[in-house]
Amino acid sequence: MKVTPKVLNDEQTAFLLHQRVARLASADETGKPHAVPVCFSLTQAAIYIAIDEKPKKVPASGLKRVRNILENPAVALIADRYAEDWDLLAFVMVRGRAELLEPGTEEHTAAVRLLRGKYHQYEAMRIEENPVIVIRPDKAISWGALDEPESSEAGVLDRIHGRRSVRRYLPKDVPDRTLEQVLEAARWAPSPHGRQPWRFAVIKRQETKGRLADAMGDEWRANLEMDGQGAEVVEKRLEGSRRRLRDAPVLVLLCLYLDDLDQYPDEERQRGETTMAVQSLGAAAQNALLAAYDSGIDAGWMCAPLFCPGKVVEALGLDPKLVPHALLTLGYAEGDPPKRRSRRTLDELVVYRD
Ligand SMILES: Cc1cc2nc3c(=O)[nH]c(=O)nc-3n(C[C@H](O)[C@H](O)[C@H](O)COP(=O)(O)O)c2cc1C
Repeated sequence: MKVTPKVLNDEQTAFLLHQRVARLASADETGKPHAVPVCFSLTQAAIYIAIDEKPKKVPASGLKRVRNILENPAVALIADRYAEDWDLLAFVMVRGRAELLEPGTEEHTAAVRLLRGKYHQYEAMRIEENPVIVIRPDKAISWGALDEPESSEAGVLDRIHGRRSVRRYLPKDVPDRTLEQVLEAARWAPSPHGRQPWRFAVIKRQETKGRLADAMGDEWRANLEMDGQGAEVVEKRLEGSRRRLRDAPVLVLLCLYLDDLDQYPDEERQRGETTMAVQSLGAAAQNALLAAYDSGIDAGWMCAPLFCPGKVVEALGLDPKLVPHALLTLGYAEGDPPKRRSRRTLDELVVYRD
């Protein structure tokens, strides 16, 4: 993939990553302007726009935006936030040179994956058969309250579709009030008998993250070696995991706290109570992930603490009654995550028994 110098700063990148639509302006060789709304994906060096019209119906080269780019590659893309509270207004405008990426190239494949990762609608469209527009930015201009949390005008399903697991973050701090909103959402999760059988540990300092990484790394190394993984693979995976903990500005460890659960004389019902507690920890985690996304930050989920709860408690000096289950990383995504997301259709998942 071509590497172009970083033009967008971290605030601009974070703002653009949370916008679902932008406007693309192009001009023909006479300078006649043309603007269209576009869906887009982002890396730190490029912006990708799919051509989603069916190739047979409208050849890509028949689209005005494509013809313009071929005649005159100078383009601008603008994404903005409007709110009645004008303290929240903001925009980012990127100028750059656009090209068409042809199917079959490595960058085209990566771009299609990014676009499908961000917009599930593209999974059902044959965008891989069309060229993808790439903008290589050479100037970025922004104005307004880029850092304000996104307003919740979009419905909850939009937030559910937009959220994705993020594994690489920008070196940009999470505002305290955003972190509080995430924890507040977790607090309001449903729980068995309303017992709220969970507690949350927040970790920001590098030294503490390092202790946690070391504790979990020792256990993981032993497990990988037990699985017969080669030394090189083990080191690579451990380093990846350490990097994820180190580079995420905030970690939130979700722990089970079972002391307040109902007590039963028989094992089966007691097991049911514990299972319900775990289920509700999952609900707290999802509340937190959605609140994070809704507030303009991103999050990822790491299961590692589940496999060495005692070591995690020790490394962080937590109450021994806490059972670490899930670790959420929080921050601003470095770019659209490269992993393609897909979901089974409702037909596969649901049976109706009227
Ligand atoms: C219980 C649970 C454990 C997970 N553990 C990890 C993990 O250890 N590492 C990781 O990268 N992702 C982990 N994930 C995230 C999933 O891989 C991710 O949700 C899935 O691939 C779907 O992608 P999406 O969240 O972007 O939609 C976990 C998710 C869940 C629900």
